[in-house]
Amino acid sequence: MRAVARAHPNIALIKYWGKRDEALVLPMTGSLSLTLDIFPTTTSVELDALASADIVELGGETARGTAAERVTAFLDIVRRLAGSSVHARVSSRNTAPTGAGLASSAAGFAALAVAASAAYGLDLDGPALSRLARRGSGSAARSIVPGLAIWHEGDDEHSYAEPVPGPDLGMVIATLDARPKTVSSRVAMRASIDTSPFFPGWVDSTRRDLAEMLQALAAGDIERVGALTESNALRMHGVMAAARPPIRYLSPQSVRVFDLVSELRSAGLAAYATADAGPNVAVLAPAADLAAVRDALASEVPAAQLSVAHAGPGARLVGATEAAS
Ligand code: PMV
Repeated sequence: MRAVARAHPNIALIKYWGKRDEALVLPMTGSLSLTLDIFPTTTSVELDALASADIVELGGETARGTAAERVTAFLDIVRRLAGSSVHARVSSRNTAPTGAGLASSAAGFAALAVAASAAYGLDLDGPALSRLARRGSGSAARSIVPGLAIWHEGDDEHSYAEPVPGPDLGMVIATLDARPKTVSSRVAMRASIDTSPFFPGWVDSTRRDLAEMLQALAAGDIERVGALTESNALRMHGVMAAARPPIRYLSPQSVRVFDLVSELRSAGLAAYATADAGPNVAVLAPAADLAAVRDALASEVPAAQLSVAHAGPGARLVGATEAAS
């Protein structure tokens, strides 16, 4: 069987930072994100009864080392669920810069979850696909879902993402540096838990932020949604800055974009900044204001590559699942 799936990255408004269970990828707290309509990943999975190992191709090149091992470990989970021992050929193409904190692993594992479960003949509903994607990369649980998504903390059965209603928001992604990060989010999360004295405060305050965010979204209160988004992101970066040794993903250019966004607010635009495990900054704004935010940033940070994103679709099969020829 062969199946092809497509998924888009998501950017969290309330961040996931820290695992309660590394093997099952259970988060310390719930989180909330916006799945985007840009930078999709398309992944095909084809079963090969004659292959003696999985063959993994990423961006047209054979994957080796950790990247290939993560895909095989993920396929092992799918094979256990399907009661199969057949290996697969996986081919995946990203359109976002890989590893630069633009959530390419979220889109990648969401697409792989949908394609692999279909190829192995599993019939999984949304929550089950989200739980599966979570095992590949925590944030991938949220890319199964379109638009705004909450990923619940909890045990293996209950920790999945589902849609949340809210206002029509989008993001301007300011790519400042597309090189892969030097410290993985996995390693940085562990260091934050083990050595940052702020970590317990992060967990408590993020649970409060998430509850408040749900209220603000339900009320369509964009100012409160934005303020929570920006302060939660800066608090996450503060937690890791307090680790030993300190971890810092934000560059001077990232901080400059945060300052510019604050100036845009003073000038009357509802724009709010956030950043993941990398120097690039995502600016949250009502969909109707995205062009104005992009134009303002373009004149102030000409070196940044700016991409406008609206709420995007959840991960899905593209084309028919078919018997391999
Ligand atoms: O899914 P991971 O392991 O790549 O972790 C992503 C963590 C952040 O992007 C920094 C925050 C988030 O909630 O997406």
